Amino acid sequence: MTDTLAKLNNLKFDNQHPSEGDCRSELLRGLKQKQKFINAKFFYDAKGSELFDEITRLDEYYPTRTEMAILQDNSEEIADYCGKNCVLIEPGSGTSEKIRLLLNALQPKCYVPLDISAEFLFEAATTLVREYPWLQVHAICADFVHNWKLPNSLPSGKRLIFYPGSTIGNLEPEKAVAQLERLSGWMEDTGGALIGVDLHKCEKRLHAAYNDSRGVTADFNLNVLSHINRLLDAEFDPEAFTHHAFYNKEDCRVEMHLVSDTTQSVKCQNDIVHFTAGETIHTENSYKYTLESFADMAMRAGLK
Ligand code: TRP
Repeated sequence: MTDTLAKLNNLKFDNQHPSEGDCRSELLRGLKQKQKFINAKFFYDAKGSELFDEITRLDEYYPTRTEMAILQDNSEEIADYCGKNCVLIEPGSGTSEKIRLLLNALQPKCYVPLDISAEFLFEAATTLVREYPWLQVHAICADFVHNWKLPNSLPSGKRLIFYPGSTIGNLEPEKAVAQLERLSGWMEDTGGALIGVDLHKCEKRLHAAYNDSRGVTADFNLNVLSHINRLLDAEFDPEAFTHHAFYNKEDCRVEMHLVSDTTQSVKCQNDIVHFTAGETIHTENSYKYTLESFADMAMRAGLK
């Protein structure tokens, strides 16, 4: 890794991945709740990031394609509005594919991809600097919610936060407001944000997007168990759980769960987690907004 870094003088890589101890206690806390849950960031080990990338290219998964087309068709207008030479920050950057549609038009002075998946981020960032030799990249592996702070070493200047993919939709509304407030702090007085959120649509289409026919979303959901087996020295059998995703109309969100096929007890370090048949681990929410409901949320976070 350091060898590669030495050769790429336009790339800085900061690894601020949360400690293993913090990950373990957070996971165990979630698995001991009445409704068991796993924080969605645990989806993204290297394999999970790869599966997610595959999801973004599925026929049924419309959001990525739709967003890419919007960015492509409007890159000049976006650049006119945002101005050139900004410090461009992308929380949850993944493969950094979408930003490629804006880089030439925006000509940022520095691009800051943030992602929880260290190896995956490193790969994505090295590929990007090879393709864009003029671009300064400061990649940071971090859990960018909570009290995480941007490093002081970023260049000064107007900041643009690029937050696509309906990543904001994976937070519960109260937490989403708090996250927008945090982003608003990152923007300082002169910056702004370009945010992609998914809108409400017919249930059939939503259902298909999270239950694709090739089962990639199911594999992605189940892969979290292999990841936490490594993190927690646990013994989850992914074959003893089933992917379940459905639209919860009342809360305007797609919910993702892992259903225990049988009554079972799973060893997690020094603990045992019990499941009755049919009991679930809640792994993800994907909130769907309307233009009004999202504008209202942004307003509550103090954004204009
Ligand atoms: N932000 C994406 C979304 O809400 C994340 C996502 C897509 C996702 N498909 C998923 C998360 C499947 C978990 C499982 O659409």
